[in-house]
Amino acid sequence: MKHLLPALPYDHAALEPHVDARTMLLHHEKHHASYVANLNSALEKNPELQKHTAVWLLLNPGKVPEKIRAAVHHNAGGHVNHSLFWRAMSPTGDGAPTGLLADAIKRDFGGLEQFKARFDDAGAKLFGSGWVWLARARWNGGRLEVTTTSGHDNPLMQGRFPLLVNDVWEHAYYLKHENRRADYLNGWWPVVNWKEAADRFEHSDHRAESSWESERGSLLEATT
Ligand SMILES: [Fe+2]
Repeated sequence: MKHLLPALPYDHAALEPHVDARTMLLHHEKHHASYVANLNSALEKNPELQKHTAVWLLLNPGKVPEKIRAAVHHNAGGHVNHSLFWRAMSPTGDGAPTGLLADAIKRDFGGLEQFKARFDDAGAKLFGSGWVWLARARWNGGRLEVTTTSGHDNPLMQGRFPLLVNDVWEHAYYLKHENRRADYLNGWWPVVNWKEAADRFEHSDHRAESSWESERGSLLEATT
């Protein structure tokens, strides 16, 4: 089995003017594609690992030979996170969450605007390349949290279930915003796919925590 680059769920220009078409093209067809190609290449001589999902590879570094561990970690993470990221955006973003997710954001952050400010602040302050997330804790009553990860790490590695994500690697914004990461973060909200975030929230109930690792794996998994 080989990992495959998932198709974008919309056109490269569909998120204009908030995310430009050129960035989307390079981001998907060059950056994400290279993580997929490099992951397959790292696994080439390890057929026993080829049956596993990218999420599994990310969460089980101890089962990956040391020689390829760093390459598998980085590229599986890049593959998983970008697959989530494309789905976190939509050309028909509806501006605000509804239902249970809206209630939880109000409960845990005080309101949508407060949450957005926390998310933007965390993304702006993250040193170097990484990701900013809305995640649900596995502990602490399943509360919502804003968290960041460096490189291509994922909140699943911290026991948190990812609901919404923005990419704060420079390749995600430099063509349009140059070094102004805060502008990129602030201007991203109109394309957020709240329906996807709400769906992920409703699948993340702490009663199902034992299945978190696999429960959404099929959506992340672009193999076979
Ligand atoms: Fe990226």
